[in-house]
This record gives sequence, C-alpha cells and structure tokens, in this order.
Amino acid sequence: MIRLLHLDASARPGRRGVDPHGSYSRALSHRFVSRWRATRPDDPVRYRDLGAAPPRLVDHDWIRAEFTPHDRRDAQMHARLAESNALVDELIDSDLLVIGAPLYNFGMPAPLKAWVDSIVRIGRTVVFDPSRGDDPYVPLLIDRPRRVVVLSSRGGHGMDAGGPLAHMNHLEPHLRTALGFIGIHDVRCVAVENEEFGGERLAASVAAANAGVDALVDTLLSEAATSPVPVAA
Ligand SMILES: Cc1cc2nc3c(=O)[nH]c(=O)nc-3n(C[C@H](O)[C@H](O)[C@H](O)COP(=O)(O)O)c2cc1C
Repeated sequence: MIRLLHLDASARPGRRGVDPHGSYSRALSHRFVSRWRATRPDDPVRYRDLGAAPPRLVDHDWIRAEFTPHDRRDAQMHARLAESNALVDELIDSDLLVIGAPLYNFGMPAPLKAWVDSIVRIGRTVVFDPSRGDDPYVPLLIDRPRRVVVLSSRGGHGMDAGGPLAHMNHLEPHLRTALGFIGIHDVRCVAVENEEFGGERLAASVAAANAGVDALVDTLLSEAATSPVPVAA
C-alpha cells in the first residue's frame, strides 16, 4: 500500500477543462491522482485543499508554543500547535506527496508557504543538535523513502530547472530545500507554462505537461512495483 497525500494550493477553486476559469495546477494534480488510482485503487488518498483552507500563519503564539518544551506547554500552546501537528502527522503517514501549486510572484503561494511553515518542526520532522557543530540539523523523515511530485502552472515560460528564466522561479527549488531539510529528497516536477500567453503556446504546453504527468505516474508505478515502499508499523 502506498499512501498519497494530495495538496492543492491554487487560489482558483475549479479545475481547468472542467470549471470556468479553473486552475491548471489543480487539473494536473487531479490527473496524476486519478491515473494513479486507476492502477492502484486501494491506495488511500488524503486530500487537503490549502488554497481553499490555508493553514494559519506562524505568529507569536505559535513560536512561543513551538519553542517551549513539550512537557511545559500549557493547554493554549497545545491548542495553537494542533493544526500544525495534524499536518505533520499527515505528512509522516504519507509515502507519496502530490502538490498542485501555481507560481505566484516568483515563488510558492502563501497557503503552501503556511503549510511548509507548519511541517518543518523541531523535534517532529527535524532535530536541532548543537553538539554536531556546523551541521546541527538532523532530518527525521528518513525512516522510509518518501516521494514528492510538484505539479505547477506558470504564466510565463522558460522557468523549468535549467531554463533561461529558471532564476525567476523559486517554487520548486524552495520546496526541494524545505523537504530535503526534513529528509525528503526525491522530488519530481512537471509544469504548464505560457498560461498568460494562451492560444497555441499554452495548448502545446498543457499537452506536454499532461504527457509528462502520465509518464511520471507510469515511472513511479513501476518503481513502486519493483521496490514497494515499506509501510511504517
Ligand atoms: C498573484 C499572481 C502572481 C503571479 N506571479 C507569476 C509569476 O511570478 N510568474 C509567472 O510566470 N506567472 C505568474 N502568475 C501566473 C500564474 O502562475 C498562472 O496564472 C498559473 O496558471 C496559476 O496557476 P493555476 O492555473 O493553478 O491557478 C501569477 C498569477 C497570480 C494570480
């Protein structure tokens, strides 16, 4: 069994191709999960619509609670960390994280950043150990392989890794850094580009991205068949 955690972060609620003014990144993530489930219908999928229901932003109360030792937290502190803890639990319980996310102003949408802020947690997903000198951070999500798929959409073009405008896209690099920091290094990416141009350029990009998603599902399915992800006890 491979447990999927499916996140969407677009501010647009619908899916392109189904709903008026729908989201391309939601269409890609939906395509990925549907294709996966067509082959492995018993794999559980947990869904979080971050765009519709963003996690609370980090604030003073959250920081105070997070940096108070667990056994000294009062009821309010536990309550303030409850949502963050739930998001961490979901991530720990997953084997395959599917993220649909648009590029907004050169980076990730705020709801997805709020999710990242919620899941990078001292003592839960990473340990800070000053006795280790210059390398004090120990990732905790290394108990088993987890894979991440980032399915994005951009108004511009040339922003895939290695592209001429890649320096204007901090979405996938930021996710790679943050998830790598907690022990998840296998990140695969597909994106629609040219959304703001429309017309044939966009149509060609959508077709290529759909084909890329299908190929990625097939690759990950065959990897899963040859080296199944061990399920934690
Ligand atoms: C607030 C905002 C900021 C955006 N910033 C960028 C950007 O920095 N670079 C880019 O290529 N496109 C940018 N776009 C275009 C979106 O990436 C594009 O519309 C994409 O298709 C949105 O994803 P969605 O279709 O899943 O909603 C921006 C759009 C919005 C609404």
